[in-house]
Amino acid sequence: MKKKKINSYLNNLKIILEKAPKKMNEPFFTKDEFDYLKNCVKNKSVSTYGKEVREFENLTSKFLKTKSTIALSSGTSALHMAMYALDINNNHEILIPSITFVATVNAIIYCGATPHFIDINLKDLNIDCDKLENYLTKNTIIKNNKCINKKTSKIIKAIVPVHVYGISVDFEKLKKIVKKFKLKIIEDAAEAFGSKFKGKSVGTYGDIGVFSFNGNKIITTGSGGLIVTKNIKLEKKIRHIISQAKVKTKNDVYSDEIGFNLKMSALSAALGLAQLKKIHQILRRKKSLHTYYLKSFKVSDNLKLIKPINNQSPNYWINVAKLNGINLKSRNIILDKFKKLKIEVKPIWYPLHKMKYLSKYPKMNLSNSEIAYSNCITLPSSISY
Ligand SMILES: Cc1ncc(COP(=O)(O)O)c(C=O)c1O
Repeated sequence: MKKKKINSYLNNLKIILEKAPKKMNEPFFTKDEFDYLKNCVKNKSVSTYGKEVREFENLTSKFLKTKSTIALSSGTSALHMAMYALDINNNHEILIPSITFVATVNAIIYCGATPHFIDINLKDLNIDCDKLENYLTKNTIIKNNKCINKKTSKIIKAIVPVHVYGISVDFEKLKKIVKKFKLKIIEDAAEAFGSKFKGKSVGTYGDIGVFSFNGNKIITTGSGGLIVTKNIKLEKKIRHIISQAKVKTKNDVYSDEIGFNLKMSALSAALGLAQLKKIHQILRRKKSLHTYYLKSFKVSDNLKLIKPINNQSPNYWINVAKLNGINLKSRNIILDKFKKLKIEVKPIWYPLHKMKYLSKYPKMNLSNSEIAYSNCITLPSSISY
């Protein structure tokens, strides 16, 4: 790539980033967080039994406009438990975009299932639904109401749409595909608390939805996750297995199956309650930063901002720029430059199919994922500056 072109990208980006935050995404805290945590300690309400956990579940249900939520120790454990509760096992393949955080694929492997990588589109970096429909039409058959991979003879049981960087997948297209190919939807909405599609919260569209409240997310509980499902049987099962599958009798406590210790603690929930108080303020600030980037990017023809298309109302968690026509080497020159300037500009998620331990799993042609990896960079999106 010509030096002149890289320099033009660098100069444009430098001007834009001068007036932007320097950090990718720091938590936004005020006095509330100290007050809530102090109260927890004062009342000795710190474990998974604390009332703050139920309160956090009630308020997140209200915010998402869903019947109930289950609070867990992390987004990863929420994904794991969602799949475990859906009986995903070694007979199954699960469709997953190659551009996502590694936790999404690890949860599939914890359950003994096979991840099957699918491509993204270059407009919003979410699943390319048209490419997926063609691929499934050619490579699967429906037998006994199940989608069978013709090559491996395994059941393709579910798809995990990831609302990457806070922008929702196109549910209009996806719903048609899951109906046609008899798939369950497990939404990885880890990055998308507060994002909507057609006015409805993401995470509430699928059979199960999962959120993360890790320290880098739109609101944080330190470490934490959330499961959303309208299926009462599934909800009961998840609540049971995340607290060691305990059964209480008058005098005894025993377990009736293998369980896990994955509930959210009261300390985490208290932090989350303080954060929920300012969620609308956080979302407003995120949107205003996105608007700044949007206006600034208009100056360059080759520099594009990934932005919502139809029906998508993102939480604007992280802003992503697309540098058209750039290769990996040139992208790295740009990343190095901003590292030296102490401005957090980073690559997007490393394509999963290119990681050595995941390279053996089935995949479609993933050309868009590879282009996106060299063309796209994430921009500082912190609102606490
Ligand atoms: C898309 C995606 N899925 C899952 C996770 C896992 O969440 P956690 O870090 O809370 O375990 C993350 C968080 O980084 C994520 O970005």
